[in-house]
Amino acid sequence: MTTPKKLFIKTYGCQMNVYDSERMAEALGGQGYVETSEAGEADMILLNTCHIREKAAEKVYSELGRMKALKVEKPDLKIGVAGCVAQAEGAEIMRRQPAVDLVVGPQSYHRLPEMEAKARAGEKALDTDFPEEDKFERLKSRPKAARGPSAFLTVQEGCDKFCAFCVVPYTRGAEVSRPAARVLDEARDLVERGVREITLLGQNVNAYHGAGPDGSDYTLAKLIWDLDKVDGLERIRFTTSHPNDMTDDLIAAHGECEKLMPYLHLPVQSGSDRVLKRMNRSHKAESYLRLIERIRAARPDILLSGDFIVGFPEETEADFQATLDLIEEVKYGQAYSFKYSTRPGTPAAERAQVDADAADERLQRLQLLITTQQRMIQDAMVGRTTRVLFEKPGRLDGQMVGKSEHLHAVHVADPSLQRGDLRRVQIIGSGTNSLQGALLD
Ligand code: 5AD
Ligand code: SF4
Repeated sequence: MTTPKKLFIKTYGCQMNVYDSERMAEALGGQGYVETSEAGEADMILLNTCHIREKAAEKVYSELGRMKALKVEKPDLKIGVAGCVAQAEGAEIMRRQPAVDLVVGPQSYHRLPEMEAKARAGEKALDTDFPEEDKFERLKSRPKAARGPSAFLTVQEGCDKFCAFCVVPYTRGAEVSRPAARVLDEARDLVERGVREITLLGQNVNAYHGAGPDGSDYTLAKLIWDLDKVDGLERIRFTTSHPNDMTDDLIAAHGECEKLMPYLHLPVQSGSDRVLKRMNRSHKAESYLRLIERIRAARPDILLSGDFIVGFPEETEADFQATLDLIEEVKYGQAYSFKYSTRPGTPAAERAQVDADAADERLQRLQLLITTQQRMIQDAMVGRTTRVLFEKPGRLDGQMVGKSEHLHAVHVADPSLQRGDLRRVQIIGSGTNSLQGALLD
C-alpha cells in the first residue's frame, strides 16, 4: 500500500471558507490525500484566503513567506492559494511569491484534482474562472466520512448588492442559488453521517431563489420548511442575511418553524441614513428598525446579531452617533465591528478617508457599547431553560461544551454527556464568553 499524501489546509475568513475547505479536502481525498494539522508534515499546503479587509489579504503573504521555508526541507511540497485572495489577485500571487504552485478561485474547486496533478508535474496551475458547470455536484464527497453534530451547507453564493465598500460581488461573483433538491439531498446525507444541526450559508442567503421541486423559484423560507421535514435534523440556522431580503414568509418561519433557531444575523453596517446611502445599502436606519420590530413580533426571544463598519469615507461624529443610537435601540446579543478598510476596485476606495485615529477611537466606543449589551443579554439567560447541542469536550475533566438555541456557548459538567447529545439544560451561570449549565433530565 502506498502511504497517503498529507494535506494541510489553513482557513481564513468566513464560514463559507470553512465549508469550502471541507469540500476541497474531500476533493483531494480522491487523489490519495489525508488531512494533517501539522504544516511541517504536509505534501500539499492550501491557504483558503479572505479578501474582505486589507489585513486579511496581507496575512496571506506573510504566511506564504513562512511556508516557503518548508520547501527547503521538502522540495516536493506543493503550495496552493485558494479563496477570495486567489480570485482577486490571480497570477499576481505567483509573481509576488514564486514558491506558490497553485492558485484556485472559489468557483473552480471541483477542478482541484487536475490542478494538483499539474502542480505535481512541476507546472504552475492557475484557475480563476467562473465556469458554467455545477461545482457542488462535482465536489460530492466520497467516501462518506462521519461528521460532527453541526455542519455548514452552502445554498447560495455571490452577491448582486454592490455595497460601496465590499469586494464580495467581485470575488464570489453574481448571486447563484443551488436547486432545493440538491440542498435537501446534501442535508439528508449530512444527517446520515451524524449531523443534527445545519447552518445554511450564503453571502446573501435570504436572497435564495433556487429552483424548487417543480422547477419554480423557491424562497429560503420554503427551503427551511422542506428541511424541517428531514427526520433526524433537529436544528436549522442561516447566515448572512440582507435586510432588504427579509421576506414575510421568512419572518413568519421564525415564529412557526420549531427547528429554526431563534438567532438572526442581520447586518446594518451604519445607523446614519447619509452613510447608508453612500454605502449603497438601499435601506434606511428607520426601515431596519421597523423590520426588527416585525421579526421580534414573530419571535419575541430572537437574538439579533449584526455587522458594523466605522470610519466609512466622510463619516462624521454625528453619523457615528446615529450608529450608536441604533445599537442602543436594537440591543444586539452578538455583533462584529470593523474599521473601514479600503478595498481596491470598490467605489468607496476613491473617496476621502476618515482620519485613522478618529476611526480607531470610534471603533473602541462602539465595541464597548456592544460588549456591554452582549453581556447583559447573556447574563439574562441565567435561570432560563434551553436545549444545548453538545459539540466537544470542555477544558475541565468531564465537561462538555455545546451551543444553546441562541448560539451561546454552554459548559456543562456531567460524565454522561456525549458529543452530539441534544439535552435540556438549565443555565446556572454566565462568564466572559460562555454560560454554565446543568442537565435537567
Ligand atoms: N472594510 C471593513 N469592513 C468590511 N466589511 C466588508 N467590507 C469591508 C471593508 N471594506 C464587513 C461588513 C460585512 C462583513 C462581512 O465585513 O460589515 O458585513
Ligand atoms: Fe458585501 Fe453588501 Fe453583498 Fe454583503 S450585501 S456581500 S456587504 S456587497
